[in-house]
Amino acid sequence: MIKIYTDKVILITGASSGIGRELALLLAKEKARLILAARNRETLEAVRSACLAHTPHCEVLVMDVTNETQVNEGAQQAIRFFGKIDVLVNNAGVTQRSKLIDTPVSAVRQLMEVNFFGPVMLTKALLPHFREQQSGQIIVISSMAGLMGYPWRSGYNAAKHALQGYFETLQTEQPIPRLYTTLICPGRIHTPITYAAITASGEPYGKMDPGQAKGIPVAVCAQRILKAMHTRKKLVLIAREERILLWFKRFFPVLFYLIARKGN
Ligand SMILES: NC(=O)c1ccc[n+]([C@@H]2O[C@H](COP(=O)([O-])OP(=O)(O)OC[C@H]3O[C@@H](n4cnc5c(N)ncnc54)[C@H](OP(=O)(O)O)[C@@H]3O)[C@@H](O)[C@H]2O)c1
Repeated sequence: MIKIYTDKVILITGASSGIGRELALLLAKEKARLILAARNRETLEAVRSACLAHTPHCEVLVMDVTNETQVNEGAQQAIRFFGKIDVLVNNAGVTQRSKLIDTPVSAVRQLMEVNFFGPVMLTKALLPHFREQQSGQIIVISSMAGLMGYPWRSGYNAAKHALQGYFETLQTEQPIPRLYTTLICPGRIHTPITYAAITASGEPYGKMDPGQAKGIPVAVCAQRILKAMHTRKKLVLIAREERILLWFKRFFPVLFYLIARKGN
């Protein structure tokens, strides 16, 4: 792949772990100028050190994507680091492990805040900047859960479906001619995501799902995201069995509900 991100300024949320961390390392190898965002400074600093082995430019931005003030100030701080933003990667997210019937509305709201309103607020905060420079690229890490409902993830599925609707609208309205928006839908990827998953009790799930452990290696996922960024595709699925399930949903819905019900 030709390195098109050399010197480009890229803001990645959720860059302290999993997919965000891996993508940051790949972009560091392209010598991009990186801004790594998440809530935990210590883990961000560790990723920053790893990135600095490849690129001379890497900054840390401590920001909770559910806090509107922090997001608005964080967006302005991000622009100040290098004088511009070329690419925004909306990646920060939290999943869920609880049956719909047991899940309080407050937990659903929390899932919507992180997975939906976070990307919406940050995108809204940066769109004027993209308009001013008449260009930009937005990558949205959605999920196969944004295309179909799985058990144990009611609020997560809802938030990711909302992301699909919101950013597909941005793609159709296309308010800035050279603004490229890509929706990425991963299936299960082997990351620590289930440890912090929201449960009915409010306690984090605290362990790795066996299904998650058998997921696509995170390095493979990050490579596919980088390729999608290069090709500026509108929608990219990074999945194995979830693709078949989606196909069933479209063409054999009876089978879809039978199979999906058994998943967790
Ligand atoms: N792993 C999968 O199977 C999978 C599949 C489909 C889609 N995805 C999506 O991929 C994205 C990354 O997931 P991952 O698997 O890499 O998970 P992960 O390893 O748990 O990483 C999640 C990242 O989000 C950050 N984060 C969480 N809540 C935040 C908040 N309120 N404000 C700011 N940052 C926050 C975390 O850092 P802090 O805790 O320090 O804030 C961390 O850096 C998510 O959007 C997820 O929904 C993952």
